[in-house]
Amino acid sequence: MQKPIIVVLTGAGISAESGIQTFRGSGGLWNGHDVMEVASPEGWAKNPELVLDFYNKRRAEAAKAKPNDAHIALSKLEEKYEVFVVTQNVDDLHEQGGSSKVIHLHGKLNQLRSSIDESLIYDMDDPHQEVLIGDLCEKGSQLRPNIVWFGESVPLIGGAMALSEQADIFVVIGTSMQVYPAASLIHYVPRKAPKYFVDPHPNVIEPIPNLTIIEEKASIGVSQLVEQLLKA
Ligand code: OAD
Repeated sequence: MQKPIIVVLTGAGISAESGIQTFRGSGGLWNGHDVMEVASPEGWAKNPELVLDFYNKRRAEAAKAKPNDAHIALSKLEEKYEVFVVTQNVDDLHEQGGSSKVIHLHGKLNQLRSSIDESLIYDMDDPHQEVLIGDLCEKGSQLRPNIVWFGESVPLIGGAMALSEQADIFVVIGTSMQVYPAASLIHYVPRKAPKYFVDPHPNVIEPIPNLTIIEEKASIGVSQLVEQLLKA
């Protein structure tokens, strides 16, 4: 018999307890950096050195982080469910925590890509290696982070929408739901499917049918929810 499908949408909040800064709110990354300078095609055109330096620091920071109880608990759901983790995060803590199907909507810190051909993607073996001006792809263009920046299309969103339409259960964890199209995925989920949102400060603007809010940090809320779903 086919296992029920759970689609999990995660954001920076699930990695907060692993020591990775979130983006918004006090102490968030976008408080200390101008997002358009470091995460847009315009910023890249203006000062690629600054952009490379920003992501070199993020990569080194992520390399020190370990998955927390929430990442690990999510992987346990695979005992009973077909689980697809759709993450906005560019770290690899879901994979390290044991999840087997992870879709990185906004790209990955440990990948680079050609700046003239988005299909040329390269895995980085050493997260401490700095990417510098003059590091080129095989077609001779500057390598850039394989991160989806503001104003760029999200190549994996079509697949994530199709999965959301098939979800028997949909779980949202640690995201401010302010960045589209990721925040729209919940609207593709069937009305009757139970939905859960784990976040200490959940931002729910529109009414969502069948939504249960768990106002907790991910390590606590996700562990509780996983226990409940495994017993169901
Ligand atoms: P945000 O920084 O916008 O939101 C983080 C969310 O995590 C907030 O709702 C917090 O309440 C919540 N949070 C904080 N600590 C938590 C904890 N311990 N457990 C659970 N939740 C916690 O981050 P995202 O929503 O992920 O895109 O941001 C979306 C996108 O905007 C990012 O992928 C990034 C950013 O610009 C790119 O860089 C392309």
